[in-house]
Amino acid sequence: MHIVWWKESVVYQIYPISFKDSDGDGHGDLQGIYEKLDYLTDLGIDVIWICPIYESPGYDNGYDISDYYAIMRKFGTMDDFDRLLEEAHRRGLKIMMDLVLNHTSDEHAWFAESRSSKVNPKRDYYIWRSGKNGQVPNNWESYFGGSVWKHDPETNEYYLHLYSEHQPDLNWNNAQMAEEMYGMVHWWLQKGVDGFRFDAVAHIAKAEGLPSAHNPDNLPVVPAYQLFSNLEQVHSILNKLNDMILKPYGPMTVGETSGLGPEQALAYIGTDRNELNMVFQFEHMFVDAKSSGIGKWNYREWKLTELKEIMSRWQTVLHGRGWNANYMGNHDQPRPVSRFGDDGRYRVRSAQMLATWMLTLEGTPYIYQGEEIGMTNVAFPNIDQYRDIETMNYYRHYIAQGRDKNDIMEAIWKKSRDNARTPMQWDDTEHAGFTEGQPWIQVNDNYTEINVAAAENDPGSVLHYYRKLIAIRKKSKVLIYGEYELLLPDDPDIYAYTRTLGDEKMLIILNFRGNEPEMHWPEGWTENQAKLVIGNVKRRYSTDEGTILLQPYEARVYMMQS
Ligand code: GLC
Repeated sequence: MHIVWWKESVVYQIYPISFKDSDGDGHGDLQGIYEKLDYLTDLGIDVIWICPIYESPGYDNGYDISDYYAIMRKFGTMDDFDRLLEEAHRRGLKIMMDLVLNHTSDEHAWFAESRSSKVNPKRDYYIWRSGKNGQVPNNWESYFGGSVWKHDPETNEYYLHLYSEHQPDLNWNNAQMAEEMYGMVHWWLQKGVDGFRFDAVAHIAKAEGLPSAHNPDNLPVVPAYQLFSNLEQVHSILNKLNDMILKPYGPMTVGETSGLGPEQALAYIGTDRNELNMVFQFEHMFVDAKSSGIGKWNYREWKLTELKEIMSRWQTVLHGRGWNANYMGNHDQPRPVSRFGDDGRYRVRSAQMLATWMLTLEGTPYIYQGEEIGMTNVAFPNIDQYRDIETMNYYRHYIAQGRDKNDIMEAIWKKSRDNARTPMQWDDTEHAGFTEGQPWIQVNDNYTEINVAAAENDPGSVLHYYRKLIAIRKKSKVLIYGEYELLLPDDPDIYAYTRTLGDEKMLIILNFRGNEPEMHWPEGWTENQAKLVIGNVKRRYSTDEGTILLQPYEARVYMMQS
């Protein structure tokens, strides 16, 4: 058992544009985060991950960085950042930055130079190719729809962008560019930040020669993830980054790596690998999609058995060999209570059940802002109310193809990233206490009922439950380091598992459905021996014969009494 602080930490993710606005411009800011540090301290979290706050034109809310050394004006100044970092540290909280190494903004000074001429020294900082017979250089499809290539009239060549055309991909084969990036990471470490989330890091290397993907139907563009994800060169870059820059500071690192299973993840996080501490995997995020990547928009009913299989595989394979980063939502995903729980009648209870899940797995738990009060998806009736570039591109693309508008809106209601990006709901005053101005995106209408102030006043709220749960986890070595074992793999409703560390044993029982399933006490457990640590219903039921009767979305955590 290898003990380190980031394994014992609970992370809280802030999407700063939607967290708290302090100056009435409708846009969250660093001062807003500063003002809410008490709230975060009370919640009991250890690390704050802040989504990008660097200078950016904001086409992708900061994931299009135009200056890595400056703070976006709407978020404040570098002084504000320094003050926030200092105050967080004073309280024992750590700050994790979100760094985009795969691409910059098309307004970055490097790109201005790069596009200016074919012989500019920074030309090769990005990926430029000439067209093929008047067509794009290859058939790769962008994550945000359409081709990854954008024609630039200035030099009559195309540049590559895996995301939007405002996010040109960097060329990591260029040693000078790489040096500049390493130096930038070092600069932030010297400032005293405690960790990094490396955005889209799986894609920083592309297949040599940029070959077209297999395309039997001869489509204009096709998903080509395997040609730009998790390639060998990513590992050599991370190895170097770690050796040269990260290691002396020991920051917490997590890479965003779609398209891999746990065995492949070990190439990044294996204790022998010298790269990253953790990765965000995506397998469980596609249980309700017909295919991965851009296929996310095609909904399919998800099955608990599949979700359990995925999570259990990660738990088991990484045990003792790597470390999990556990999450059920973030700024790119729908709200978990709407997706995996019930955002109607059982909103509170199902949000508590899902929280129990995340905080009792092996790995570091990541809580996304609003999850702790059970915030839900939003269904804006009109596309004009949406802001997300991915959502807008999807809409435009399929409208142009003649797809039914209602079907498109249905998909957006289920999967749009804006579900998670509506402002944090602090109280029941106008705009949910998020801003005194006009919010950049509308607040979810349910803010009068679902908000922090209401949750504070209700001892049965999701918020109070989270506080209790976080405190329990932090005290419990078995919940942090214990080995995971799945029970009842084929049960369609119940997700149950044990965690074991030496003589200590915990049993976690979660009902993922609105019905009332039953289960027997697992082997080795009896009701008398089992001490309840936390649960989300007032009364618990069982039969005299030792059958556990679960209520809708019930969660129970037991400790074995010796
Ligand atoms: C990551 C971010 C997402 C962003 C994309 C491009 O997936 O989480 O929000 O749009 O990278 O930077």
